[in-house]
Amino acid sequence: MPILSLLPMRRALPTDPRHTPRLELRPFKRRDLDAVVEAIESSIDDLELWLPWANRSYGRAETNRFLRESAAAWSEGRAFDLAIRSRVDPETHLGNISVWPTSRRERTGEIGYWIRSTATGQGIATEATARVAEVSFDELELHRVTLRIAIGNRASERVAEKLGFTKEGLLRKEVLVRGHWMDHSLWAMLDEEFRVARDRWREEKWLE
Ligand SMILES: CC(C)(COP(=O)(O)OP(=O)(O)OC[C@H]1O[C@@H](n2cnc3c(N)ncnc32)[C@H](O)[C@@H]1OP(=O)(O)O)[C@@H](O)C(=O)NCCC(=O)NCCS
Repeated sequence: MPILSLLPMRRALPTDPRHTPRLELRPFKRRDLDAVVEAIESSIDDLELWLPWANRSYGRAETNRFLRESAAAWSEGRAFDLAIRSRVDPETHLGNISVWPTSRRERTGEIGYWIRSTATGQGIATEATARVAEVSFDELELHRVTLRIAIGNRASERVAEKLGFTKEGLLRKEVLVRGHWMDHSLWAMLDEEFRVARDRWREEKWLE
């Protein structure tokens, strides 16, 4: 068995920005507050359909708490939240993407994301997820990365399909959204699958 298989996942992740051909992914800064609030408020109709935290009263106080918690989580290795920005227009907040460990011993983790409504349908979630998957396998040394996607969320399922994640099954009543338990599908990619997929992701120009 390779030595790496016996080691727990790495806890620390450098805070440098990561890039894709079109995007910069970087840890949040306190001065992102206004831009993140604006992105959430302008996208709430879409976000509240699928995300348990998204509701019409989510505003400055909640976003501020998220920014504080995000910095603490990063330094403690609990979660790595990244702001998605365009390399040519870095002021507009395009969305969030995160990876967090689900088991350190098994070196597994999960990725979650949302994209502002005015920027959907341009391949941003796919490109950002490709880069965060690369960080997950190369830098965090995970061996398995999952996505949980609400049944009916075709746009998010397309992201998983395009990247080549495998749909593994159904998680019944997995997440409570607006008072309703929503079934989710579970999608996963293994380290060895990522090593093969990465060449295609580069050809697709999702990775540099
Ligand atoms: C899901 C979400 C992240 C997708 O972001 P995005 O940047 O638009 O994603 P991409 O452009 O990379 O890919 C979206 C794909 O879904 C397709 N799509 C979008 N809406 C669709 C719909 N209603 N039915 C079928 N396909 C749809 C797009 O055509 C595209 O596929 P294609 O490239 O084959 O044409 C974004 O819509 C979002 O943030 N939604 C609200 C929050 C959320 O659902 N987060 C994910 C939770 S798991």
